[in-house]
Amino acid sequence: MDYLKIFAPATVANVSCGFDSLGFAVDSVGDEMTFTKTKEKGVKITVITGADLTFDIDKNAASAVVKKILNDANANFGISLTIHKGFSPGSGLGSSAASAAGAAFGTNQLLGNPFTELELTKFAMFGEEVACGTPIADNVSAAIFGGFVLVRSYKPLEIIKLPVPSALRVVAIHPQIEVKTKDAREVLPKEIALKDAVTQWANVGGLISGLHSSDYNLISNSLVDIIVEPARKNLIPFFDKVKESAMAAGALGAGISGSGPTIFALCKGDEIAKNVYKSIKKSYSNTGINFELFISEINQEGIKILSTQPTK
Ligand code: HSE
Repeated sequence: MDYLKIFAPATVANVSCGFDSLGFAVDSVGDEMTFTKTKEKGVKITVITGADLTFDIDKNAASAVVKKILNDANANFGISLTIHKGFSPGSGLGSSAASAAGAAFGTNQLLGNPFTELELTKFAMFGEEVACGTPIADNVSAAIFGGFVLVRSYKPLEIIKLPVPSALRVVAIHPQIEVKTKDAREVLPKEIALKDAVTQWANVGGLISGLHSSDYNLISNSLVDIIVEPARKNLIPFFDKVKESAMAAGALGAGISGSGPTIFALCKGDEIAKNVYKSIKKSYSNTGINFELFISEINQEGIKILSTQPTK
């Protein structure tokens, strides 16, 4: 294979109770990237559209990952990369993760698939470190594995793919402000009370059990975050208003997507999802802040191959 075009999905990390350990992939929003083999070794980025990102190979999350994998695999070719962002950096939808995970996946394909999904996740975590200073796994593993994932352990890295109940839909609103992950991590408590930890890990267990048994009530009762959301919600204008409007329209739960500012709501079925979409839209329309809003199924397969032939 000398050429590849892929779709790398946006992802919702944390999923309320599972800070840094739960995530899922979105089906309707993501980036497109192309990979072309070159005779000369090394990486170059020829085109970036949709966002103002660096072309510096060692600072761009995608090219840094491509470079690392080619070096580690001792490849005898190089890669020329194009990146077409379908959503903004700083949205809380795993923008750098889509780039890093897409880069790991695409490079692996051109190498003939020597690496496992877990190894690709480790490479993509390096891209997260390049982009935001911390090698977080929740977004990149959701993008690579698809569906819902649990980062069961960081050392050693262990990713558990969880089942996705078929009627689950996500509605997400992205207020057009930027929240930097680094800033959103600085507002977090350094210590938490044992009773709060008990509540939080019981909800993580409940959510995972609910995903396994397609028990939407249990999913709904478990989509609660008493630790991170209270600390971060002040960074997101009108967070409570959006959450209340989503719940009033029948959402199972709503919370901050990753480090924000995107707010997600999980819903059972298309009809409720449409009502939640309308309700959130109405709640945000008079705030004076521009926003983007979408409904999506949960992406089950992760990164998708769109083409293996360059368009003429
Ligand atoms: N789990 C991370 C956070 C996601 O909430 O800070 C952002 O990369």
